[in-house]
Amino acid sequence: MKLGIRPILDAGRPKVYIETYGCQMNVNDSEVILSILQDEGYALTENIEEASIILANTCSIRDNAEQRIWGRIEQFRLQKRKRDGVIIGIMGCMAERLKDKLLEGKVVDLVAGPDSYRNLPEMIREIKAKQEPQMHVQLSKDETYAEISPVRLDKNGISAFISIMRGCNNCCSYCVVPYTRGPERSRDPFSIVREAEEVYANGYKEVNLLGQNVDKYFWKDPEDADHTVNFAQLLEMVAKVDPGMRVRFSTSYPSDISDEVIETMARYDNICKHIHLPVQSGSDYMLEKMRRKYNREWYLNRVDKIREVIPDCGITTDVIAGFCGETEQDHKDTLSLMEQVGYDSAFMFAYSNRPGTLASRKYEDDIPYEVKTARLNEIIALQNRMSLKSNERELGKIVEVLVEGPSKRNPEQLCGRASNNKMCVFPNGGHKVGDYVMVKVESCTSATLICSLV
Ligand code: 5AD
Ligand code: SF4
Repeated sequence: MKLGIRPILDAGRPKVYIETYGCQMNVNDSEVILSILQDEGYALTENIEEASIILANTCSIRDNAEQRIWGRIEQFRLQKRKRDGVIIGIMGCMAERLKDKLLEGKVVDLVAGPDSYRNLPEMIREIKAKQEPQMHVQLSKDETYAEISPVRLDKNGISAFISIMRGCNNCCSYCVVPYTRGPERSRDPFSIVREAEEVYANGYKEVNLLGQNVDKYFWKDPEDADHTVNFAQLLEMVAKVDPGMRVRFSTSYPSDISDEVIETMARYDNICKHIHLPVQSGSDYMLEKMRRKYNREWYLNRVDKIREVIPDCGITTDVIAGFCGETEQDHKDTLSLMEQVGYDSAFMFAYSNRPGTLASRKYEDDIPYEVKTARLNEIIALQNRMSLKSNERELGKIVEVLVEGPSKRNPEQLCGRASNNKMCVFPNGGHKVGDYVMVKVESCTSATLICSLV
């Protein structure tokens, strides 16, 4: 395993095992958690059987994510029976949402929400001293873990996640995140640039700037109110670290993505030409009910602007099928919007009612399971056709790929992403992980571009 700035330590230390669920931000949070626990004398293990602390960094975004984790907690119970003194901890969004409910089954010893990771060493000491469970779920207005160097957990040592902000101030009516991750706060830009420089110096070739709504990134110098940094400026600062370091980011929000961001992307070759722009629905009525702050026309205008400034920009999205009160016409509007944009790929979900959210309090989750599933399947089928079409448009093009590792299907071949985020597979040709390679797209499936070396 290629190591980041902070090496993964071992040599006789008690072991911590971490499972991560949910988004990339959670992956980065697990890296922060490991960094904090290494300072406390622990070392990472990938073998649950030898762990004295077992942690799950959890996700609450849909009910099935939580159900999976309840299943895992039952399996953790077996580890507790096998060995004395094993500490079981639930971190992250589910910890924040369910709080002491997680302690009821007498398996979990430690519950820590997304802003509580600095308290982990203290909590672990208390559990050991008092043999009592510990919980810390207070959300913060300013915690960004800015100065903590995450211990990189990625396997390839090429692409590093960097959190640029935490929390979310949007109030999408279906979404649990504002409740689990608290208010929006932006991290000091200089600590972000320093982290990018560190990972690049350590062989990483790509940084991925993460936030729930990166377009709302805004930092004000505490000592000079006139000195501010917005997301476009931050992008530029990070892009300037080195032209050999690729910069990606997610997630953008349709009503907040600015012309300045799009133009900054166009100006720097090393800012990857890909925007993840979740639309959620193509129906104005649904968008309003979802409390998204844009309508169909606004969204399509943003897509036009992106295509005008960056003609070959990859555009991907998130879609929810079967939100409260969704009619057949609303659903058709989603299909027609997807077709109009011609997304390169999409994450597609059936609506899942989350207790405590505005939608859960105000609207009935009234679309029958079969209807939701049928609509979701229709959306997926359409996207599969469009992904294939989008890949076919790449045929014959020569693109630059960052080598990520051996191809999963055929280990003789290599794989890596083009700037627009499309996955490419190509012959080895003596190239190494982390090399930039020019390839020609020869054929494709809906998921992959099959390329030759040029
Ligand atoms: N049900 C289904 N999908 C959801 N998402 C967020 N909340 C829900 C929910 N309650 C989806 C949105 C979001 C993505 C991260 O997850 O599409 O963009
Ligand atoms: Fe990430 Fe959202 Fe899941 Fe929390 S609920 S882990 S923010 S996807």
